[in-house]
Amino acid sequence: MTLPGSPHIAYRGNDLFIDGCSARDLTARFGTPLYVYSRQAMLTALAPYRQALASRPHLVCYAMKANSNLAVLQTFAQAGCGFDIVSGGELERVLAAGGDPAKVVFSGVGKTRAEMRRALEAGVRCFNIESLPELDVLSDVATQLGKRAPVSLRVNPDVDAKTHPYISTGLKGNKFGIAHEEAVAAYQHAASLPGLDVVGIDCHIGSQITETSPYLDALDRVLDLVEAIEARGIKLHHLDLGGGLGITYTDETPPSADTLIGQMLAKIDARGHGQREILLEPGRSLVGNAGVLLTEVLYLKPSPQKNFCVVDAAMNDLMRPALYEAVMRIVPCQSSGGTAQTWDIVGPVCESGDWLGRDRELAVAPGDTLAVLSAGAYGMSMASNYNTRGRPAEVMVDGDRATLIRARETTAELLAAELKLLQT
Ligand code: LLP
Repeated sequence: MTLPGSPHIAYRGNDLFIDGCSARDLTARFGTPLYVYSRQAMLTALAPYRQALASRPHLVCYAMKANSNLAVLQTFAQAGCGFDIVSGGELERVLAAGGDPAKVVFSGVGKTRAEMRRALEAGVRCFNIESLPELDVLSDVATQLGKRAPVSLRVNPDVDAKTHPYISTGLKGNKFGIAHEEAVAAYQHAASLPGLDVVGIDCHIGSQITETSPYLDALDRVLDLVEAIEARGIKLHHLDLGGGLGITYTDETPPSADTLIGQMLAKIDARGHGQREILLEPGRSLVGNAGVLLTEVLYLKPSPQKNFCVVDAAMNDLMRPALYEAVMRIVPCQSSGGTAQTWDIVGPVCESGDWLGRDRELAVAPGDTLAVLSAGAYGMSMASNYNTRGRPAEVMVDGDRATLIRARETTAELLAAELKLLQT
């Protein structure tokens, strides 16, 4: 049986497989909680982006905040991708993974001077600038280094991405980007600063978007701006249309990347902008359905009001359900054939918000292993050490080979940076 989301995660007989590796073998070898990713699923998700853009200059910049494990970055770097980064730490990860800094775009509303300096020294492709003061600071930092910083302004097109309010970023009330009506003046200011080279324009309207219309509306607004900016003699080389394409967690039906890009390119061409280089910043759609979180059932607590299934993964390992009330599918790694009951799947953390799934029909017993599906994006990258819990191990599967790509965090590592007070 193939599960919705990815053909790389499917049952063979009663056993759940991630590509050629059974969840049973993986948990026996690496323990739980365990993130497992399929390398092939990541490359399969990238393919329609590359195909749809093949006919013109383009750069797919993987938004690495979705999953920044070095082996994941290495996979995308080797496939020719660039990266969308949002911190100096992410830049160091790109460099450590062998990524090309000349293919990096640096986004984010709060870049520090130190981060700007490091990114200029490394030679990033572009800074995506989100405010007027940031333009001034970057020009200053670049001038001090005797360099010119390539910039694109992130414009806020004021469109509704129709997604969860925490991950919608293109509306007027969001902290992101430069307001549409202020963008032309901001570009004129950027062009007047000594340390900057204006190279492009960008927008990103939100995440887990499942319709094409918000993208096309935003694109129209961005192209209006491109025309207004170029009419003032400022040349824009590239269009960076952000990320945000949704995935199937349960029954969502997002457009495929090639359908979405095809519609965007048709609009770009129809409006006479076909010569421009296209940059995209997909995150979730490249890795989300390539990963699962495997967790062991510790205890069953049936009660007249609610049945609780306590597992060894918690909100610190996978924050999306607690933070966004995200619904992610949870399936058994071995179908037992037992009688299904309705369970809330909860973790050991001391908060009622610590749940991974609610009201799930499952046949479970202590010692069973469950898989939270579609956990490849914003899973491990948002994990914390709350309750002094070490973060899970991560494994990359390629065919029938499984490689540990991050060791389970030990308690000794958690304590290592902390210092006790000196006793007088
Ligand atoms: N570009 C920029 C400037 C972004 O802020 C983001 C995501 C992306 C690209 C990639 O978006 P994607 O293709 O992954 O949707 N933690 C949330 C998602 C936060 C997204 C933040 N920005 C979640 O778990 O749903």
